[in-house]
Amino acid sequence: MSDPTQPADPANPPGADFANRDPDSPGFWDERFERGFTPWDQAGVPAAFLAFAARHADAAVLIPGCGSAWEALWLAREERRVQAIDFSPAAVATARTQLGEYAAVVQQADFFAWQPPFLAGWIYERAFLCALPVARRGDYAQRMAELAAPGALLAGFFFIGTTPKGPPFGIERAELDALLSPYFELVEDEPVSDSIAVFAGRERWLTWRRRT
Ligand SMILES: C[S@@+](CC[C@H](N)C(=O)[O-])C[C@H]1O[C@@H](n2cnc3c(N)ncnc32)[C@H](O)[C@@H]1O
Repeated sequence: MSDPTQPADPANPPGADFANRDPDSPGFWDERFERGFTPWDQAGVPAAFLAFAARHADAAVLIPGCGSAWEALWLAREERRVQAIDFSPAAVATARTQLGEYAAVVQQADFFAWQPPFLAGWIYERAFLCALPVARRGDYAQRMAELAAPGALLAGFFFIGTTPKGPPFGIERAELDALLSPYFELVEDEPVSDSIAVFAGRERWLTWRRRT
């Protein structure tokens, strides 16, 4: 039974009894994909993603922590250059099943060690930063900066505000700005109208341009 004095833990709901509690390990995500517990999955592509993709039709795209890879599938069908990764074998299997003929678009790889096959014009973020333990945020910013050539864009959905437990781990806006500003300049900042329940009211669409 859950303890009502403790804050809710979205990744470990009462009764689920997940064995792996370390989101920095592929096994954490494997367990949740294998048991069909994916409350972050929007089961489609968000409106702001579609609008951005229309404005940047020529950009090659990298998608770290792709999960079910809805956006990678959309991009592949549009014949865009896209490479998605996830370090969880179960996530990669889920993505490949839905990608079908485009399965090669997804690789199993750890974001922090990954060497992408091409330089991206756009690195897409959705529910990836907030999936990482707070202690890895500095590593995230540094790795994004390494992957983005000067002028390239880091764009997507950021989960704003503190959360007592996670994932998803929200980040205060000032902390996010301080994290990314040494490497990136903020060029777009918009509200999000079609968030799914777990992120509702706390997502922003942000576009960051890699500084030269
Ligand atoms: C909350 S899910 C989000 C999935 C997807 N971006 C979406 O919007 O549905 C986070 C994903 O990041 C992956 N992940 C976490 N740490 C990773 C790492 N170091 N390298 C690659 N993937 C990672 C997990 O396996 C999981 O599939």
